[in-house]
Amino acid sequence: MEIKRVVVIGSGTMGSGIAAQLCNANIPVTLLDLKTEISQKAKDKIFNSRPPLLIDRSKIDNIKVGNILDDFNVVKDADWIVEAVVERIDIKHNIYEKIFKTRKNGAIVSSNTSSIPIKILSQNLSDEEKKDFCITHFFNPVRYMGLLEIVKSENNDLNKINSLKVFCENLLGKGAIICNDTPGFLGNRVGVYAMQVAMTEAFRMKLSIEEADAVFGRPMGIPKTGVFGLYDLIGIDLMEDVLKSFIKELPKNDEFQKVAQEIPLIKKLIETGYTGRKGKGGFYRMNKAEGKKILEAINLETEKYSISKKIDLKIDKVDLKNLINRKDKYGEYAWSVISKIIIYASSLVPGITDKFNDIDEAMRLGFNWVKGPFEMLKEIGVKNFFERIDSFKNNKFLENLSKSKNENFYGERQLYTNIETLGKIKPKAINVDKNKSAEIYKFEDFNIVEFTTKANTLDYNSMDCLKKATDKPLIIINESMQFSAGVNLSYTMDFVDKGDFKSVEKFIKYFQETCKHLKYSKHPVVSAPSGLTLGGGFEVLVQSNFVASHTNIIVGLVETIVGLVPAGGGCKEMLWRWSQSNEAKKDPDYASLKVFDIIGYAKTATSPVEAEPLKYLKPEDKKIMNRNSLFIECKKILEENSNFKAPNECKFKLSGKPLKEKMIKILEKLYNEKIILDHGVKVGKELANILSGGDTSIDKTLSEDDLFKLELESFMRLIETKQTQERIKHTLATGKPLVN
Ligand code: NAI
Repeated sequence: MEIKRVVVIGSGTMGSGIAAQLCNANIPVTLLDLKTEISQKAKDKIFNSRPPLLIDRSKIDNIKVGNILDDFNVVKDADWIVEAVVERIDIKHNIYEKIFKTRKNGAIVSSNTSSIPIKILSQNLSDEEKKDFCITHFFNPVRYMGLLEIVKSENNDLNKINSLKVFCENLLGKGAIICNDTPGFLGNRVGVYAMQVAMTEAFRMKLSIEEADAVFGRPMGIPKTGVFGLYDLIGIDLMEDVLKSFIKELPKNDEFQKVAQEIPLIKKLIETGYTGRKGKGGFYRMNKAEGKKILEAINLETEKYSISKKIDLKIDKVDLKNLINRKDKYGEYAWSVISKIIIYASSLVPGITDKFNDIDEAMRLGFNWVKGPFEMLKEIGVKNFFERIDSFKNNKFLENLSKSKNENFYGERQLYTNIETLGKIKPKAINVDKNKSAEIYKFEDFNIVEFTTKANTLDYNSMDCLKKATDKPLIIINESMQFSAGVNLSYTMDFVDKGDFKSVEKFIKYFQETCKHLKYSKHPVVSAPSGLTLGGGFEVLVQSNFVASHTNIIVGLVETIVGLVPAGGGCKEMLWRWSQSNEAKKDPDYASLKVFDIIGYAKTATSPVEAEPLKYLKPEDKKIMNRNSLFIECKKILEENSNFKAPNECKFKLSGKPLKEKMIKILEKLYNEKIILDHGVKVGKELANILSGGDTSIDKTLSEDDLFKLELESFMRLIETKQTQERIKHTLATGKPLVN
């Protein structure tokens, strides 16, 4: 079965997201709604969405729009029809009746329902029709969430389900997990239970919402929105509907029922319009005082808002053992929540799935958890776990494990896919080196470096691993959300605060040396970015010999925002790339002025397609929809380049002073128009100095080392200024830029 044309019915949040992802895969799709105006509006919204649902906006016309009365005939030509209308069974049934009367024989029909069982959705279908009907449960936002649950019934033609899975994996880039028809399937059954446990335990133990979110967040390997923040993000009213459906669908004795009961505060919030971020606020809200926006948090007992207090547990990495062993209320809360999640998730095996592994992967892909419940159990240790829990009756999985006490119960990861992923090969690889910021694995005849810090920010240790790993062909790749958000600014500021600029300089020099080494060592280096690939992270990428990029990246040199300039070879390498263009051959200043514009404005691209015109990526760099395939693509690159020869060193001819003056004119104009302020001019002048070649002239030749030197000098001059330090501190504290 080949899927060449798709129709999506319902152009709301999910229908739009699915249509956009089909558009990204270059599959023609028609989006139908009650009226064409609604689907046209949805198409416009897709085009303008932020973060963008489209990888390449010029492809928008892969999406056609229409309405279900006049345009229903398009269903005739579709190989797959996705229903994504409101969660109302009567409406869905009516649509299926129409679809099955119209569709071509054998076309797949699926629903995006999040809660209605397949047996109810398909109750009016004939056995022949049921063969082709399933649930394809995408997560919001479709482009960015990895999980797709394909829910099958006993009537399905399994070959067809499998080919749909392969299509969704390869073309739509999803981690497609096939599930049985049980309430909430895998992701929501465990994910929503986890949220409810985290919430009810916070009430019971009288934790503030900030405290609960600080524990049920990064320290547990869960996104920093925690539980109350996530409730606000999803919508408190929507969560209430989700819970109602669980209460209705699940047996009365299911443990879920205990944590799904209505909480008076939640009822009150919904009634008063506090439905979360889309409403007046929720557990958190923004308030204005003296013209300033202030984040407030609700007190679970008094139900009053007050200024939100940041709780810092000083835990940078997931370390469950330490967390649950803390002798304070946070440790107690963490243990209570984690143990309940593990007990609940394991009680579902083999009832809702015989592969516990699928539950873990659903939590990673659908909820962005670093580890699923069973990996949490593995980390805590089987012995430790059983020493602390009191009861696990009627839980076959735990009963068996308590007898076998097998610490190595886990086995392989990512069983849901046939792709050879990084997650699958890591346990088979040799862990040859490891420090606080990165790890080196040796696999077959090459090395792998995985960064391991928060947002994979880079420091001296990260460089150490990179440098050591170049004794073999190297793949730089990781499983976390970001490739690298850049140099670790807190690490740099620790030196600055002590007035230790020597150490900053030493680090930048080492950074440069390492990147040069990546580029020119005798073995090929491949980088596989996904997520944020900014600043120093981009400099690692741009000085790798090859790139296999996930289609979901945010890439760029953003140093000027914090009052710095790229100093790990970013200016140099961009200058080299632009100087290879035809325009640069005619105009010796062309490349420098282009790069001045790109780095000066800290331009970023949100996909490889956007990155190419900026020359952040090259046309030959691989662009990959499925993140799981990055590793295998990198491996292929290494195999294809077994005769690799390091590139020749670049040489530069730059105009020097006259070019710098051109750039300063641009800065003066921006200053006069108040687009930049005093420090913006200073940063711009340093950038101009690097990109014009400093004290050079067009007849002289500069080496890469000359440019590295210019980058370093400018970087050091800037980091020593009070204004750059203020920018960095402000960004570290608020995540926002400071204009000074
Ligand atoms: P939505 O309310 O944003 O959009 C529903 C769309 O369906 C609207 O544009 C509406 O005009 C249209 N519609 C209603 N009746 C129709 C009909 N008879 N024919 C054609 N179009 C019709 O809803 P949303 O959030 O996109 O949800 C769609 C489905 O996806 C639901 O089944 C929901 O449970 C499920 N879902 C929602 C998720 C979410 O995060 N919003 C996540 C996963 C699944």
